[in-house]
Amino acid sequence: MREHYGKCFKCLLKPDATGRARRYWCQRLSQVARTKAVNACNEGLIQFDIRSVTRQLRQHIASSPLASLAALPSRIATVGRYNASTLTQSVRWLVRSREHTNFTYDLEPLNREHLAWFIASVTDRPVDDVRGFMLELEHDGELRELVRDTTEMSARRGLADPVARWHKRLGWYAIIRAVQPRHVVETGTDKGLGSLVLASALIRNGSGRLTTIDINSSAGYLIRGRYADVVDVRVGDSLPILAAVNEVDVFLHDSLHTFDHETREYRAVAPRLADGGLVLSDNAHATPALPQWAEQTGRRFAYWQERPADHWYSGGGIGVAWSIGKWR
Ligand SMILES: C[S@@+](CC[C@H](N)C(=O)[O-])C[C@H]1O[C@@H](n2cnc3c(N)ncnc32)[C@H](O)[C@@H]1O
Repeated sequence: MREHYGKCFKCLLKPDATGRARRYWCQRLSQVARTKAVNACNEGLIQFDIRSVTRQLRQHIASSPLASLAALPSRIATVGRYNASTLTQSVRWLVRSREHTNFTYDLEPLNREHLAWFIASVTDRPVDDVRGFMLELEHDGELRELVRDTTEMSARRGLADPVARWHKRLGWYAIIRAVQPRHVVETGTDKGLGSLVLASALIRNGSGRLTTIDINSSAGYLIRGRYADVVDVRVGDSLPILAAVNEVDVFLHDSLHTFDHETREYRAVAPRLADGGLVLSDNAHATPALPQWAEQTGRRFAYWQERPADHWYSGGGIGVAWSIGKWR
C-alpha cells in the first residue's frame, strides 16, 4: 500500500475527481477521520494514510447491517474448506475401508497425549507410565498380526478392516495396565477387538480375567490363541448375566447404547463392584447415564473426547466413574 501514500483517499479511487466529490467521500468516514480528511482536502494537504481509512471503513461496515453480507465470501470459504476436508475423508473411507459399524481409526497426536493425561489423573499414575502402556499396545506386532490373519479368515471379512487401529481402546488398555484388576467385565463383544486389547493388558499384568458379554452368539471371533485363555465369552442379554458375575474391578459398558439399557447395566453391576471398582462407558458422548449414576452413588466422573485422525467420524470417548482414593 506504500505507493498510495501522499494521495487523498478519494483521489486514490477516482484520480480525476473534483474537490466536491472528495468531500462527499470524506463525509462517509467517521467523525475523526472525516475531520482529518476534510481538512486535508480543504487545505490541499495530501498526506493521508490509506491504512487508517481502510480500518475506519471496516469498523463502519462491521457495525452496520451489511456486516454479515460483507463477510459472506470469507465465511463461505471457511465452511467450504472444512466440508471439503470431511468430504475427502468420507470418499477415501468409502473406497478404502470395509467397515459399516464400530469404526476403527487412529487418534490425532495431541488427542492421544490428552488421553495419557486423562488416564494419569483418573488412576493416579505418573503420565510417563501411562505413555509407556500406550506404546506397549502400539508396538504389539503379535496382536496386529492376529487381528489381520483372523479378520482375513473370518466369515465377516467383507465387513471388517484387517489393519488394527486401536483409537479409544488404547485408553482401555492403559487403564487395565494402570489399575491391575483381577476381574474385568465388558458388555458388548462384537468382533472381539476390545476384548483382545483388554486381554492383552491382563496378560502383560501377569494376572486377571475378562468376562465379555454379547447377545449375539457369533460375537468374539477375534478372541483366539493365548488371549482366549484369559477371556470368558458369555452369550445372552447383559442384564441377567451381570446380576450374577463374580466381583468386578473394572466394568465397561459397550453394548446396547440407549440411556435406559446403559443405566440398567450400572444398577445391575453395582452390587458386584469391588470396593473402589472403576466403571467405564463407551457411550458417555451420547447419554448422561454414567455421570447421573456416578452422582447418585457418590462417585466422581470424568470424560475424554476422541478426535479421530483422518476420518469423517467425529469420535466417541471414554467416560469414567470412580470412588475417590481407592486405587493404589
Ligand atoms: C459397539 S459393539 C461392541 C464393541 C466391542 N466392545 C469392541 O470393542 O469392539 C456393541 C455390541 O453389543 C451387543 N449387544 C447389543 N445389545 C446387547 C444386550 N442387550 N446385551 C449384550 N450385548 C448386546 C451387540 O450385539 C454388539 O455386538
